Amino acid sequence: MEQVQSYIKSNEKQFLDELLEILRIPSVSADSAYAGDVRKTAEFVADKLKSAGADKVELHETAGHPIVYGEKLFDPALPTVLVYGHYDVQPPDPLDLWDSPPFEPVIKKTKLHPEGAIFARGACDDKGQMYMHIKAFEAMMAKDSLPCNVKFMIEGEEEVGSDNLGIFCKANADKLACDVVLLSDTSIIANDVPSITVGLRGLSYVEVELTGPNKDLHSGVYGGAVANPINTLCEMVASLKDENNHITIPGFYDDVEVVSIEDRTKMNEAPFSLETYKKDLEIEDIHGEKGYTTLERTSIRPTLDVNGMWGGYTGEGAKTVLPSKAFAKISMRLVPNQDPDKITQLFSDHFKSIAPKGVKVEVNPHHGGQPAVTPTDTAEYKAAHLAMEKTFGKAPIPQRSGGSIPIVALFEEVFGVKSVLMGFGLDSDDIHSPNEHYGVYNYFKGIETIPYFFHYYNELKKS
Ligand code: BES
Ligand code: MN
Ligand code: MN
Repeated sequence: MEQVQSYIKSNEKQFLDELLEILRIPSVSADSAYAGDVRKTAEFVADKLKSAGADKVELHETAGHPIVYGEKLFDPALPTVLVYGHYDVQPPDPLDLWDSPPFEPVIKKTKLHPEGAIFARGACDDKGQMYMHIKAFEAMMAKDSLPCNVKFMIEGEEEVGSDNLGIFCKANADKLACDVVLLSDTSIIANDVPSITVGLRGLSYVEVELTGPNKDLHSGVYGGAVANPINTLCEMVASLKDENNHITIPGFYDDVEVVSIEDRTKMNEAPFSLETYKKDLEIEDIHGEKGYTTLERTSIRPTLDVNGMWGGYTGEGAKTVLPSKAFAKISMRLVPNQDPDKITQLFSDHFKSIAPKGVKVEVNPHHGGQPAVTPTDTAEYKAAHLAMEKTFGKAPIPQRSGGSIPIVALFEEVFGVKSVLMGFGLDSDDIHSPNEHYGVYNYFKGIETIPYFFHYYNELKKS
């Protein structure tokens, strides 16, 4: 292990340069204009896997973006770790809110990253975190000390729902057989408060379209006499929560897992400062479901949020118009045991039922995903715990996350194994936002920790 760690130390500059290189390729999966760059990124990942020592490296073609696969299988008696990550990124918009161009990475110091952070789209989510695994693998291979079999599966469609990866997993369940899935695509509480993610929320995502009159109208001539679909949409959306910020869709909470008071108490012992939280976001007060703390609201409780809403005239100046149409994109974060398809149906039925006669409503579902929870009494959780404790010098805290990685539930369903969510980002790293960044410290802490995971996992599986 010392040799592995000193290999990492002496290659720091190279490891950082390579990350900057992959960050320069704009692998935006949602926008077909970037399809060529998405493929280039896949080729970059495949190349690096190969030179690190992986066998059978290939780009698996899909109906969308390619999946990168590679493996190193030593001995069927050793446990097999399947490393998952994604090389695609979210669109960088709005560009004018970035302090430096999203695909021209720069390193700058911040308050939370005094050693510097890499600013670029995908720096944290997930190129930086995915790439740690390839470098840790390289170091273990270079020093002949990889203690497990390993398979890599790095996809290019996480940010658009992982549909093709789901198909790939089902069609190749034998080839992908493993004892555990390891991924870094979540956060820790702080650089001096390590944590391991033990839960992810599910997701139901819909787009609604309201149509009032059959054409845009003069808002003076018709205003007051015809339902304005934007006004109506606002009223309908507002009615989806009551005065306690409880969601009003009938049946919405039916399957929500009830977390015990003991577990909730433990959850709330995690370090968290409401004052800092408010100050960072420049808000005077928080807002959420009555009866739950901020930590609970963002982990064990479901939510409903408008992600975007548009219609009518939004250009310069004033145009007097009563629009024909109004639109909104609405997401619902789900918790165990809510089913995304069922929730989408409940939303759709309810939303249509509350529309006044003057408007027509269409509800179109987008991709969704199942929630996931991981137990803490397994060899893989303990291995992650020991690895982080070793490198951070502090025991990590188990914590449920508010984000979603829908494919994690599918891994469990198809491979019959649990995942280890050993992420190293911070919630404040602005993933999906302008000025996304990833701490240089976090990048190297990840590379340092991963070999320990393999070491302890092998040890624990033996005993
Ligand atoms: N890596 C994130 C999810 C995440 C972020 C989990 C932070 C925990 C902490 C992932 O890339 C993501 O953005 N997922 C999407 C869902 C997907 C279906 C587009 C999300 O959570 O919005
Ligand atoms: Mn991600
Ligand atoms: Mn993401």
